[in-house]
Amino acid sequence: MNRWLSADHINRLAADPVRCTRSELAVKVDSRHPFVPEDYTQLYFTPVYATLGFEHRLRYNQLFGLRINEYIMMLEADLVERLLTPLLRQPRIIADAALGQAMLTMIEEEKRHCANFAALNRACRPDLYPPGEDRFFSRLPIWTKAMFWSVGALAGRLPFALWFLMAMEESSMALARDMNRRPETETLGRLDPGFVAVHREHMKDESRHLHIDAHMIAACIGTGGQTRRALNARLFQFMLGGVTHLTRSGSGAMVVRQLVREMPELAPREEEMIQALLALKHSKPFQESLFNRRIMPKAFSVFDGTPELGRLGEKMVGYDRR
Ligand SMILES: [Fe+2]
Ligand SMILES: [Fe+2]
Repeated sequence: MNRWLSADHINRLAADPVRCTRSELAVKVDSRHPFVPEDYTQLYFTPVYATLGFEHRLRYNQLFGLRINEYIMMLEADLVERLLTPLLRQPRIIADAALGQAMLTMIEEEKRHCANFAALNRACRPDLYPPGEDRFFSRLPIWTKAMFWSVGALAGRLPFALWFLMAMEESSMALARDMNRRPETETLGRLDPGFVAVHREHMKDESRHLHIDAHMIAACIGTGGQTRRALNARLFQFMLGGVTHLTRSGSGAMVVRQLVREMPELAPREEEMIQALLALKHSKPFQESLFNRRIMPKAFSVFDGTPELGRLGEKMVGYDRR
């Protein structure tokens, strides 16, 4: 059973600089090192991965690491503000000044995280991220833009995306923790310490955000009527379909295309790699790697306590309801 920190306690922690993510970090990366654990990349879960040479796997890992940073930035820049701003006008949030304050702090912190990750990507690959260009793999497709627009438009009445936000925030913490615990990768040597340092810093604020998420979910979803709660659950499961389904135009395929652009000797294998990615839709190990109890125990405990999410496992393969 989780015990959530009170909003006052969260605000006190957020006022202590030692417990906050530092901004404007002096980032230094070494392109001889991988950026993320190999099992956080998509191709790792395909038979193609083991057939690629060391240099190809290393470059893929680095490009995928940039894409992970962009994905975190996308949630922080596009989702958090769109979701939280309308919630601040909800009577239950207005009535809880400390929670409102924690949410405002969270919005500001996410802006700083975004700047940190943009600076990290620029330090890794200035050619892909010239000044003013923070997105390379995540120029949002129409489907995602529409989804985020709907999330904002519906947030006041149907804040289903809070469940998604909580799971994603917890998974970004799990990534940072795994990088710290297992700095040595399976086949690519040691993770780059500069890249890891930015993720480690990110964890400081995120550990508080999880508690804010839990309070927002309780205040804005938990108190709704049965019909409203059921609709929130349906929309959340619909949203997951878009996340777990890999497409030809998605950011995962864009990473493969960029790899081939940079290492043209892989051109004859491009279609094989894309097909392998598309097949991940049916891969249990891959689907479980996205959402599972090890990386998101707090979010899963919230799902467990929500009767309307009883059939969540049908859409979220890694969810083992308890
Ligand atoms: Fe963040
Ligand atoms: Fe966060």
